[in-house]
Amino acid sequence: MTPFIMDHPLIQHKLSILRDEATGAKEFRELVSEIAMLMCYEATRDLPLKEVEVQTPVAKAKTKMIAGRKLAFVPILRAGLGMVDGVLALLPTAKVGHIGLYRDPETLKPVEYYCKLPSDIEEREVIVIDPMLATGGSAIDAISLIKERGAKAIKFMCIIAVPEGIKALCEAHPDVQVYCATEDECLNEHCYIVPGLGDAGDRIFGTK
Ligand code: PRP
Ligand code: URA
Repeated sequence: MTPFIMDHPLIQHKLSILRDEATGAKEFRELVSEIAMLMCYEATRDLPLKEVEVQTPVAKAKTKMIAGRKLAFVPILRAGLGMVDGVLALLPTAKVGHIGLYRDPETLKPVEYYCKLPSDIEEREVIVIDPMLATGGSAIDAISLIKERGAKAIKFMCIIAVPEGIKALCEAHPDVQVYCATEDECLNEHCYIVPGLGDAGDRIFGTK
């Protein structure tokens, strides 16, 4: 599936501040959350609606509301946690699962250390969230774990992606729609995104 790149001016503006190495952890966290909220607005554009009737102060109106499709957000720990507040601001009744993965610094392969998903995950549309799509290994493994638990409708939303990560993810999971705010140039020799924003988890949690 062709990735959806959200080049809205508000997102691009916030992304520029996010990339700046002078941006501190507090502002970084706020920006990740705000960008996630703006992206979620677009990623949920296809939510089904149902007709309802409401009484306005003037007359009865036939109007539309979300048809109650069950949604779950699954952040990939740690950095995905930074996007949770933003998406829940738009969809506060969605359930939240968690998948813990870290990239082994030597092999650069993802290592799983936690997985807790809603018990009815197979009935839910799942949006996996993580700010960074680099080699694609973490996203591919997280989505495989979610599919093993029975989920069928899955989207992946990240802030910065690179072409090799998008390619790997789309080849491994061609049914998953990928949303990103920007496609950066490439990976460096440590598989960090160039120009990127550095280590998203460290910048969110101030661990470096
Ligand atoms: C980062 C990021 C992704 C992953 C992307 O997490 O949040 O999960 O790297 O890289 P990949 O596409 O090459 O797999 P990291 O492993 O640094 O863990 P952290 O969030 O705990 O810092
Ligand atoms: N993970 C990050 O946090 N940043 C990168 O550039 C690549 C992977």
